[in-house]
Amino acid sequence: MHTQLLKLDPDNPDTEVLREASLILNHGGLVAIPTETVYGLAANIFDASAVAKIYTAKGRPSNNPLIVHVHSVEQAKSLVLNWNDSAQKLAEAFWPGPFTMVLDKNNLVPDCVTAGASSVALRIPKLFVTRKLIEIAGVPLAAPSANISGAISPTTASHVLKDLAGRIEMILDAGPASGGIESTVLDVRSNPPTLLRPGLITVQMIEQIIGPINQLQQLHLHSGAFPSPGMMARHYAPKTPVINVEGSGVEVLEKLKKEGLKVRLLGFQIIEDAICLPDNPVGYASALYAVLHDLDAMGLDRIVIALPPDTPQWLAIRDRLNRAATAAD
Ligand code: TXA
Ligand code: MG
Repeated sequence: MHTQLLKLDPDNPDTEVLREASLILNHGGLVAIPTETVYGLAANIFDASAVAKIYTAKGRPSNNPLIVHVHSVEQAKSLVLNWNDSAQKLAEAFWPGPFTMVLDKNNLVPDCVTAGASSVALRIPKLFVTRKLIEIAGVPLAAPSANISGAISPTTASHVLKDLAGRIEMILDAGPASGGIESTVLDVRSNPPTLLRPGLITVQMIEQIIGPINQLQQLHLHSGAFPSPGMMARHYAPKTPVINVEGSGVEVLEKLKKEGLKVRLLGFQIIEDAICLPDNPVGYASALYAVLHDLDAMGLDRIVIALPPDTPQWLAIRDRLNRAATAAD
């Protein structure tokens, strides 16, 4: 299959290009779409064979449900059984944006999208072009990150191309994703709601809107019982072995270099053989995956990462870095 790559202005997209993409989606094809977090791999949620193609193209385990992307709160409500108070408040605060809510699905949502679960994960993406595409397609779009399962999520169209060329019909290129890490996922069925995946919408931001929430996330990271099947310990990982260290990482870098290994440090200092990332979580997230994609292409023996501080505002970043460093089984 030839994969078409089409460029789009994220704020003022060419309607003809969006129509072409919609046509593919309405005929059961796959289109990689830009979002403000990472690129997604989209299919029409009402087309079971198209949804099945997502799992095949990504090599995604069939027990891992997909996020459903909608263009409006009305469309979100049309897919769930009970839209509660918390959902309403959180939607008003964080949609459109990097925030996903898990709610009880109604029977419009096919089981293939939720991997058989009775719940559905919903999100309204921030980019105008993404919402416009969903509107023109006329159907909600199931879209996991557009990478081979377990690999680093894509923040540019060329990252998508590297993983999925020849496996999907089209990639819409609206430039680099500014958010840089996947959306926050919150299960809003429980009272209080439960954080399933940390992201740029922080626990503190959520608690400002609805009060204290559960954070099972850490607890389940290394246990077998996943409240969210996508929370396998190893995820978002480069092929190069990653070593995480508290502190500057300089000693570990020097030690490994002395052993003759080809190694780079991802940290907060400008020194030789190191890449310096911003020391704020938003700036760091925006750059992280692109840097990991680049480092992974260098044929290194190791990537050493100087972990940011273990504080609430770095929770999502530390989560992704810990996953990146967990050895594959
Ligand atoms: O930012 C994002 O969320 C990106 C963009 C493309 O929107 N999407 C994304 O999708 O990261 P994915 O499939 O890579 O991650 C979805 C996460 C997985 O951990 C999955 O297990 C969880 O959401 N999830 C999806 N549906 C769920 C459900 N019904 N119950 C619990 N967890 C669910
Ligand atoms: Mg993913």
